[in-house]
Amino acid sequence: MTWGCEPECLTQSQVSEVAVLAWGVPRLRDLPWRRTRDPWAVLVSEVMLQQTQVARVVPKYLAFMEAFPTPAECAAAPLGDVLRSWQGLGYPRRARNLHAAATEVAARGTFPESLPDLLALPGVGQYTARAVLAFAFEADAAVVDTNIARVYARVAGRSLTAKEVQAAADLALPSGDGWAWNQCLMELGATLCRPGVPACDECPLQRECAWHGVGPDPAIGSSGVSRPQARFEGSERQARGRLMKALSNGAVRLTDAPDVMRHAAAPQLIDALCREGLVRLEGEWLLLP
Ligand code: ADE
Repeated sequence: MTWGCEPECLTQSQVSEVAVLAWGVPRLRDLPWRRTRDPWAVLVSEVMLQQTQVARVVPKYLAFMEAFPTPAECAAAPLGDVLRSWQGLGYPRRARNLHAAATEVAARGTFPESLPDLLALPGVGQYTARAVLAFAFEADAAVVDTNIARVYARVAGRSLTAKEVQAAADLALPSGDGWAWNQCLMELGATLCRPGVPACDECPLQRECAWHGVGPDPAIGSSGVSRPQARFEGSERQARGRLMKALSNGAVRLTDAPDVMRHAAAPQLIDALCREGLVRLEGEWLLLP
C-alpha cells in the first residue's frame, strides 16, 4: 500500500517504526537539549532551533541557560538582557515571546503540561507545543517541523495539506516512543531526506517511500516545509539586525541609527522595532527595553 497517496491511505501508517528507530537511535547527535527533560530548557532550545542552524544554536543555548536557568529568572530580567543573550541568533521577536512566556510560566507557578495550556503561551504554536510535550514530558505527541514535513510529503509522493501532514504524523507515532521517534525523524529529515538531493540509498524508509528522489520533489510547496530563505544581504532583516547588535553594546543616538543600519527604510524599520517592543526611544536615544 502506498501511504498517504489517497486520503483513505492515511488510516494506516507505512512509516516503519522499527526501521526508523533502528536507523536513528544510534545516530542521534549528542546535543545539549537531548540530555535534558527540563521543559524550560526544551522550550528555549526549540524556539532557538526554529529559524537557526544547530551549530549556531549550541553555544547560544548553553550561554542562555546559564544566564536564565529557570522561567522565573528569565522573567525577572529586563527584556534587554534577554535580547542581548539572543544577539547573533536573529529574529529577536522570538526572544521577546520567550521572555513573555517565561513571565506567564513564572506567574502560573508550574510549567504547562497539556497541548492547550502550552499553546496559550506567547509565541508557542503547534510545533513548539508538541516538541515540549515529546521532548520534555516524553508524551505521545507527533511533532511536525520542516524536516519531518518533508519526510512525510516525500513518503506520500505528493504535496500534503497541514491537516494531512499532522494526521500522517499522528498515525505514524509509535506509542510510548514519542521522544526517540520525533528526534529520529528530525535527524532523518536533516541528514538523509534533506532538501535538494536526498541520500535515498541509505534511508530506512526506502521501501515505503513513493518518491525515491526521482522527478519533481513532492515536498516543495507541501505544508510545513519551509521555502529557501530570502536573501539576507541588503535586506531589512540585516538592517534591523545591525541596529539590534549596536544596541546590545549601548544606546544609539536616533540621528546616528541610519548610519548604523545602512538601509533606505531605516526610519520605518526603527518605528517598527519600537512598535514591536524590541527597541525603546528615550529622548534622543534608542535603547534596548
Ligand atoms: N531542530 C528542531 N528541534 C531539534 C532537536 N530537538 N534536535 C535537533 N534539531 C532540531
